[in-house]
Amino acid sequence: MITALPGRWKPLGSATFGEESEVKTSITVINGPNLNTLGTRKPEVYGSTTLADVETFCRADAAKLGLDIEFLQSNYEGQLIDWIHALGPKVKSGESIGAVYNPGAHTHYSYAIRDAIEAATLPVIELHISNVHAREEFRHHSVISPVARGIIVGFGTLGYSLAIRGLYELHEADVSKNLKPGVRT
Ligand code: DQA
Repeated sequence: MITALPGRWKPLGSATFGEESEVKTSITVINGPNLNTLGTRKPEVYGSTTLADVETFCRADAAKLGLDIEFLQSNYEGQLIDWIHALGPKVKSGESIGAVYNPGAHTHYSYAIRDAIEAATLPVIELHISNVHAREEFRHHSVISPVARGIIVGFGTLGYSLAIRGLYELHEADVSKNLKPGVRT
């Protein structure tokens, strides 16, 4: 859908660069298990902002960058994997710049999610609201980080805005250098 907003339109660095398109480029924000309880779950750690509040400011952040936004949450690993798989082709075609992803506790053990991100070559900014490194030992290790494009940790829900901006900037830099999406060291 075309809107009045000045901004980014497909394709962003895709093979068909230069063609007009009616599809606006999007960013996806994915939240894993238990993040639907944001606002009431351990407010001393995660704050009192709800996931609906996060969605509202993420939509505004994306709009300022001229991006459409898809905002997703699931408590089910298989659903999350299906969403990740579906995003891979959208990034390749220039319809999406990738995902800001808070994998919740999956961060610490889900090789299935790690493999899905790698298989989809999905540019992902891994995001944690809390400073996981200052918490329990099991939260210090992430199986997602090796396949993440960048990581944001410990900024509270402000991290979502930082991650959206960060993914956008990385994408713009890739496009200007003619680089394919994916993990960088
Ligand atoms: C979290 C940190 C994880 O350890 C935890 O399981 C979560 C949220 C965070 O945003 O700080 O569910 O990803």
